[in-house]
Amino acid sequence: MENKILEIEKEAVEALQTLKDSKDLEEFKNKYLSRNCELTNIKKCLKDLPVEERPKIGALANKVFQELEAKANEKGEEFYKVELDKKLAKEKIDITLPGTYLPYGKVHPLTSTINEVTEIFQHLGFSVISNENSPEVETEYFNFDMLNVPKEHPARDVQDTFYCKNASNVVLRSQTSGAQIHAMKDKKPPIRIISPGRVYRNENISARKNNLFHQIEGLYVDKNVTFAHLKGVLNEFTRLYFGASRPMRFRSSFFPFTEPSVEIDVQCIMCGGKGCATCSGTGWLEILGAGMVDPNVLEGVGIDSNVYSGFAFGMGVERLTMLKYAIDDIRLFFNNDIRFLKQF
Ligand code: PHE
Repeated sequence: MENKILEIEKEAVEALQTLKDSKDLEEFKNKYLSRNCELTNIKKCLKDLPVEERPKIGALANKVFQELEAKANEKGEEFYKVELDKKLAKEKIDITLPGTYLPYGKVHPLTSTINEVTEIFQHLGFSVISNENSPEVETEYFNFDMLNVPKEHPARDVQDTFYCKNASNVVLRSQTSGAQIHAMKDKKPPIRIISPGRVYRNENISARKNNLFHQIEGLYVDKNVTFAHLKGVLNEFTRLYFGASRPMRFRSSFFPFTEPSVEIDVQCIMCGGKGCATCSGTGWLEILGAGMVDPNVLEGVGIDSNVYSGFAFGMGVERLTMLKYAIDDIRLFFNNDIRFLKQF
């Protein structure tokens, strides 16, 4: 029995020398160090030996087993190191390489102006009506008729307004003011809404004019709404949007759907009021039109103008943005030039 153990040991030690990697080692362990390897089996059969031989054989089997195990573990560590080095060399990552640049998207400056203005008016108690309730493709009825715009008014001319070829009473809205009519037809006063969106005009495109631009319409109808409310709200808006130090003025004006009507100018940002090409030498630039809703308009949608009154306003989003950031060409908003857009 003793010889048998020594023989196994000899064979195992020799086998150990021939191992090349951890896979070989695994096989080796199965053969010499597992639960049914020869050495284990010998230990299991000790009880069949004469009593006096048992301790000696048992001790020898244990010793050989432990020595083989220690040697196998040593080999294991050796293989692990070599194999890890190989793996690392193969999967090497250069952590000093710069990462891939992922450019951030940004909110378009016109969108951020709309968001900013919307927020200001929401704070003042106005709610927003969306395009669904006041579409861009509009009928003359909403864009002109109900707004008291006479049939022969020059704004209705095809030179100013885009008409649909197949339906002569359908237009691309030339102003967001139709939203006033939709709002008053959809709900009863008190009404306090703003409505931002695109408008279209048949313009020659230049630094000042594009045939697509954006407006934000506003409307407030209730009992006892006066011109003082109009002034208060629009003063507050201008103060919040441009800052208190920016000079602004009300200037009387005319719109078919408001009476009296005003326009608000703010001081030209390009020249600081001295007069330049951008402001045509006046030092001022118009940002919005406004006025008390004409009684005719109220009556047209079935609101009693003896009981209710209101004010409306409409502002140009491009203008507001150009005057805040000193942008001198409206076309920049529509060219999608990253060098321009990423400044915001
Ligand atoms: N719709 C007018 C325009 O486009 C602006 C406006 C709106 C004026 C509401 C008065 C009241 O110029």
